[in-house]
Amino acid sequence: IEPGEKPCSSSEDPGKEEVSPAEFAREIGRRRNFAIISHPDAGKTTLTEKLLLYGGAIHEAGAVKARRASRHATSDWMELEKQRGISITSTAMVFETRGQLITLLDTPGHQDFGEDTYRTLAAADNAVMLVDAGKGLEPQTRKLFEVCRMRKLPVFTVFNKLDRPALQPLELIDEIEKEFELPTYPVSWPIGSGDRFLGVYYRPRRQVHLFERGGKHGSVGAAVRVLDYMDPSLKTIIPTDLYKQLEEEVEMLEELTPPLDISKVHSGDLSPVYFASAMNNFGVELFLESFLEYSVKPGAHSSDIGEIHPENPSFSGFVFKLQANMDPKHRDKVAFVRVCSGQFKKGMKVQVSRTGKTIALTRPQKMFAQDRSIVDNGFAGDVIGLNNPNAFCIGDTVFSGRQIRYPGIPSFSPELFSYMRNTNPAKYKQFQKGINELLGEGAVQVLYSVDAGKNDPILAAVGQLQFEVVQYRMLNEYGIETKLEPLGYSVARWVTGGWPAIEKAGRLYNCMVVKDQWGRPVLLFRNEWNLTQLMGDNKDIGDLVPIALPP
Ligand code: G4P
Repeated sequence: IEPGEKPCSSSEDPGKEEVSPAEFAREIGRRRNFAIISHPDAGKTTLTEKLLLYGGAIHEAGAVKARRASRHATSDWMELEKQRGISITSTAMVFETRGQLITLLDTPGHQDFGEDTYRTLAAADNAVMLVDAGKGLEPQTRKLFEVCRMRKLPVFTVFNKLDRPALQPLELIDEIEKEFELPTYPVSWPIGSGDRFLGVYYRPRRQVHLFERGGKHGSVGAAVRVLDYMDPSLKTIIPTDLYKQLEEEVEMLEELTPPLDISKVHSGDLSPVYFASAMNNFGVELFLESFLEYSVKPGAHSSDIGEIHPENPSFSGFVFKLQANMDPKHRDKVAFVRVCSGQFKKGMKVQVSRTGKTIALTRPQKMFAQDRSIVDNGFAGDVIGLNNPNAFCIGDTVFSGRQIRYPGIPSFSPELFSYMRNTNPAKYKQFQKGINELLGEGAVQVLYSVDAGKNDPILAAVGQLQFEVVQYRMLNEYGIETKLEPLGYSVARWVTGGWPAIEKAGRLYNCMVVKDQWGRPVLLFRNEWNLTQLMGDNKDIGDLVPIALPP
């Protein structure tokens, strides 16, 4: 706590008095949040846009892409996104539908930004795994699914692009069940695919939703004709071979899949499955409707003082992402906080557990579909953006009332290492400033040589593009031209015994000893084999752990 400042007491917490416990529980109960995980090109942007359209948050298709495009036009950094044709930023978007408040956590698709996605998943309660039905599971989906599994997130599977030639639905489902050992529950079932994609059978209502081609892509509501499954006219509408197939498959579904067990969905042990064509608006509304019913509401989070329930009246949350220069005109930096308990209100004071400092949330923001706006009030399950540039680090806990700390956000262990050289020594200070700020944002990890006089930082990243972004931003935001000098290492390990363990172990072969930003020893190896060898030869070194966890 800063000298002269008091910790927050409940009387200083302006959010508390006004809401009755019943109202409080109702507000939390109507909140749902989710992140979409997918391999690039599976249709995440398209699905996001269609969900926002159905949710009434935007009024014409193209807005999400256009929003990205307009940011491209104004921000140098975003220019890089444009050049590379990828999306590397992530945001939280809120929309209200059928009385429920949905937060869609947008995750970047490019594999080099798995790190960002990983952090976003730490803030999500549900995940939607979007798969191109023509391709089946792809590497990025696999990797992200593992993160969802670790966090025991409910996973909803949506097979997209049914209007294009697709793998057999049974094959697609089989892949998920076998590879991920994740039982599935098909909520909808496709009738044909590609040119012969006619629609889906929707199990909850035993209806057939027929997809009418030629509907306007941009408008809400694909042209859909809905018939009861028992309607005799179905036989005349659907070609005989597809109708027969549908009959057989529906029978098989009813026989082979037990009734939907929601508790298993919530524990991440059963995945509801949908078939859709996001581009054609088809299947999106059915997905949204049943997602609202089956998804999990904000739940308890573990902390150092035990489980914190969302209904706990004290405000708490954690920072899962920092994003600089979201508004290029203002050079701002937004910390995204997932609210875990209590209520926040504009102007309330919170403490940051890492620093003990008290901060007034004067301009908390929510990211609506197209704009950011200042929010007055919010509850557990929400994501708020805080514009307090240097107050936060990724993983920080913010709270009012009793001191607590959430466990922080694990990250991927870096696999690429490169010196970053400042080409203009006269700009040393600017260079340090840029590195420190980008480091604080978690754009990359930074290591340093242990040799006196070698001060150039060693950037450590999961993907090459992270280096490029840092280089690009150093130039455009700090005016520093840099040179990268790759190091041929691919494995990094913390020495848990610290410097005494290194000393005790004596001479170490086939590795490089460096230190992290807190001065702790890290060993770099060319490959896993060298690591295993060193551990075999130097028992005194003790435990070596991936440099993935926050300090
Ligand atoms: P991403 O964010 O996951 O990378 O995917 P995005 O939505 O950008 O979609 C990738 C491409 O797939 C886009 O085509 C998009 O139109 C197309 N797509 C998405 N959903 C469907 C679908 O249901 N059916 C079919 N046939 N295509 C779909 P593009 O040519 O790369 O871009 P665009 O010119 O259409 O914007």
